[in-house]
Amino acid sequence: MQGSDASGAGLGSSPGSRSAGASAGPGRGMTARWAWGVFAVLFLVHLLDSLDRWLLPAVLRPMSEELELTDTQAGWLATVLLISYALWGPFVGYLADRLWRPRLMAVGIAVWSLATVGTGLARSYGEMQMARALVGIGGSTFGVIALTILMDLFARGVRARVLSAFYLAMPIGAALALSLGSAIARAATWHTAFLVAGAPGLLLALVALALPDPVRGTSEGVDEQRLRLHERVGPSQEDYVDLMVNSSYTYSVFGLAFSMFAIGGLVVWLPTFLVVVHDMTAARASFWLAAIVPAAMVLGMAIGGWLADRYSRVNPRALFLVPAVAMLGSPRCRRAAWARRASPLTAARVVAFAFGRSTISIHLVMFRSWIKARLFRKGESTMTTPIRVAVTGAGGQIGYALLFRLASGVVFGPDQPVALQLLEITPALPALNGTLMELEDCAFPLLSEMKATDKAEEAFARADWVILVGGLPRKDGMSRADLIRANGPIFTGQGKAINDAAGPGVRVLTVANPCNTNCLIARSHAPRVPSDRWFAMTRLDQNRAASQLARKAGVPVASVKKVTIWGNHSDTQYPDYKNAEIAGVPAGSVISDATWFTETFIPTVAKRGGAVIKARGASSAASAANAALGSVHALHVSTPSGDWFSAGVVSDGSYGIPAGLIYSYPLVSKGGCNWSIVQGMHIDDEARKRLDASAAELISERDAVKDLLGPAA
Ligand code: NAD
Ligand code: LMR
Repeated sequence: MQGSDASGAGLGSSPGSRSAGASAGPGRGMTARWAWGVFAVLFLVHLLDSLDRWLLPAVLRPMSEELELTDTQAGWLATVLLISYALWGPFVGYLADRLWRPRLMAVGIAVWSLATVGTGLARSYGEMQMARALVGIGGSTFGVIALTILMDLFARGVRARVLSAFYLAMPIGAALALSLGSAIARAATWHTAFLVAGAPGLLLALVALALPDPVRGTSEGVDEQRLRLHERVGPSQEDYVDLMVNSSYTYSVFGLAFSMFAIGGLVVWLPTFLVVVHDMTAARASFWLAAIVPAAMVLGMAIGGWLADRYSRVNPRALFLVPAVAMLGSPRCRRAAWARRASPLTAARVVAFAFGRSTISIHLVMFRSWIKARLFRKGESTMTTPIRVAVTGAGGQIGYALLFRLASGVVFGPDQPVALQLLEITPALPALNGTLMELEDCAFPLLSEMKATDKAEEAFARADWVILVGGLPRKDGMSRADLIRANGPIFTGQGKAINDAAGPGVRVLTVANPCNTNCLIARSHAPRVPSDRWFAMTRLDQNRAASQLARKAGVPVASVKKVTIWGNHSDTQYPDYKNAEIAGVPAGSVISDATWFTETFIPTVAKRGGAVIKARGASSAASAANAALGSVHALHVSTPSGDWFSAGVVSDGSYGIPAGLIYSYPLVSKGGCNWSIVQGMHIDDEARKRLDASAAELISERDAVKDLLGPAA
């Protein structure tokens, strides 16, 4: 299995680690060092871009005085840039999907650098407007392409940090413009400041020409052959439509547009405002702005990024909520800052911003419905983003019984596409490819993608669910704990790979035995995945218990509810018949034979796995696959009232079980994997002993794998 990035550059499944050796020209098969080299160039260009953006406000006053510009004319210089930036963006996107991106980007950098020099040479308002429009075109070419290249160079697990680092160029560029730029303008002229700012860009354009172009999508862990094919074919209309009906995307775009609307004017007028309204000297205003603005930007990015990253482990919406809360607070701050002499324009902008913000959701919903109504005929399935399910040991017995039902839609519903990302050891890949052929032959409408790999990070890339089935099954005469040293080590590497590559909302179900302790090992190596995302499978025991109760009572199994499996998926588990119900009444009232529960029911359920192995010569497979699908489904949907289900979860100390153990409890879900432990159940002395015995066994299993536990243990 693939380990983490050997270069130590923290790339996760980096292009270097995956595609080295698969070179088909410059930029293909790049190493991690290359990726960081490209990052360094892009960072420098971004810094210059930002410097130039802030230079105009920094020298706006002397420039307006010399060219005798009205405030409206001066304001238009920034507006012209933004308009050309926005109008050019879609064209750049179109070209960047089809051409060699670094060359296109180099042209953009050269255009904007020459135009910055041109701003310094401009002698009339018309020339100045022309130069600013060209700066917008060049800047937009760079901005669009640089982000797509970074996305392709760095895997999802490290992208937030890479982007934060990339955006640090903004405050540094702002600080340079406000300090150095305005100092040059004071010492010489504003013309000189633009000449100095524009020249280095020409050099960087030459460097950009030599940059490699990574395969588009290479950091997503998709098979490179398919990506190259997709590059040759180019994006389809569906790709664009898919993006437009993706709410995360549309909300981000509108959010960014509105935040630009709010701060665009501020950026242009802030230095002038301090001089004119607050009677500061130009040097003093530049000094304070050069100190405060970049510091606020760095703090905002660092704290906001950290908060969003952290909170998103519990709630993926945090990526939107954190900026939203920050935005809500900003007008108040702005009003305070402008309190001395608020102009009608300011007030209008704040009102428009507040209005826009509050109605944006309504507009978006209307916009999305309109697109859907237009583009999809009634009755046809809408294009929803697939749920990515990674399955390890997919070529084994359980895997074979699991994949077809997963692809058929029984788990996530009839409108939800599924992408299968299957992991096997290398020798088992040929057989697994046969299974892929069969899956293809089923023509499941909901199966949007599938791939098989022997690299954990590829299999787990962007996964929403990881089902850990891969590992040895026990043979007749063994206990499940006998597998601990054989299977345990698998979960160190897989835990790390989940940490590095899986999607932000990933959930993990461990099936391979001993499943509670394997889950503990994997979790201990994945500190980024919150504790409420880990599950060990005791659903098979729950199903077995329900069937035994139904058979004894002579009722359909659907009448049996509230079956709890407490503890370990082992012989020490406690199938709780005392809190179970048959047709709405306590199971003990329906089945009057009390000794049957202790002498037949509990041992039959707890030892059923061994009995199946004896009879079949192999461990339960179809029933285990059924239980795995049942576990995921139970978490995905709301639990019907009057029932609950069982799974091993990270103990929070409920019912006196030591916190941190992976212990099976009764759970209810509100849907979307929003689950909780059922509290307040009656536990008598005899049950207490059984609960504690299973906890003691889990503690001794944990002690036996101490050397395999990672940093989050
Ligand atoms: P199997 O031998 O048929 O399949 C296991 C597969 O895992 C094999 O194809 C093997 O190549 C693969 N594998 C081994 N090491 C791997 C690795 N490092 N990465 C990826 N794949 C790897 O076994 P099975 O019947 O499918 O059972 C799988 C596991 O599930 C066993 O550990 C078994 O004890 C356990 N199980 C648990 C429950 C439960 O209720 N929790 C029920 C039944 C079986
Ligand atoms: C089961 O319960 O059937 C599985 O855990 C397989 C086993 O080893 O018992």
